[in-house]
Amino acid sequence: MKSNVKIAPSILSADFSCLKEQVKQVEEAGADLIHIDIMDGRFVPNITAGPIIVEAVRKATSLPLDVHLMIVEPEKHIEAFIDSGADYLAVHFEASIHLNRTLNKIKDSGLNTGVVVNPSTALCNIEEVLPIIDYVLIMSVNPGFGGQKFIPEVLDKIKKCRKMIDVGKFNCLIEVDGGVNTENISSIVDAGADILVAGYSVFGKANIKEALRELKAKAIG
Ligand code: DX5
Ligand code: ZN
Repeated sequence: MKSNVKIAPSILSADFSCLKEQVKQVEEAGADLIHIDIMDGRFVPNITAGPIIVEAVRKATSLPLDVHLMIVEPEKHIEAFIDSGADYLAVHFEASIHLNRTLNKIKDSGLNTGVVVNPSTALCNIEEVLPIIDYVLIMSVNPGFGGQKFIPEVLDKIKKCRKMIDVGKFNCLIEVDGGVNTENISSIVDAGADILVAGYSVFGKANIKEALRELKAKAIG
C-alpha cells in the first residue's frame, strides 16, 4: 500500500481533436499530473508538439503539467517550455552534454527538475546530479512511441535507483514511463516508483475514466 503514488496520463495517446475534453476526463477521474511528450524527430524518430501544445493544455486544466523533452540540445528550448506553463520539466541524460548546467537552468526557474534515462543507460551516469534534481524519469520503453511493451529488466533498475536515493537521502522522486498497465503497475510501485506515466492504458481505452480509476486503485494497492 502506497497511498501517495501519482498517476500521470500521457496525452500522446489522446484524441488531439478534442484534447481539452480528454484532459478534463482524466482530471475528473483523479489524474495527478498531465504528462506531455515533446518529440523532435531527431532524438527520437517521431515528431509530436512544441510549447504551444503545453500552453493549450495549461488552459485546459489546473493539474500540474509534466513535460518530457525528447529533443536534442534541450538547453536551447528550456525557456520556451518554462514560459509555456510546465510545472515539471525533464531532459534526457543522453541529449544534454552539459547536463549539470541544463538542470540548474530549470531549477533556477523554480520548476520541478527531472532527468530522464533511456532503458540502456546505466544509473551511475546520473549519480552526480541526484542532489540537485526533484525526480528521475526511468524509461521502461525505448522512447518515441506510445503503446509499447514494458521492458521487464527495468524493474531491477527502479529498485537500484530507489536504493541510491534512499542511501544518499536525496529529495528525489522516481517516475516510470512506458508500457505501464493494470497488470504490471503494482510491481512497478513495489519496486520503488512514485509517479507512473500511462498513455495507451488510459487514453487507448473506450472508457478513459474507468481505465484511470482502475489503474490508480491497482497502484495504491
Ligand atoms: C514514450 C513516451 C511515453 C508514452 C507512454 O516515448 O515518453 O510517455 O506516452 O505511453 P504508453 O503508456 O502507451 O507506453
Ligand atoms: Zn513520456
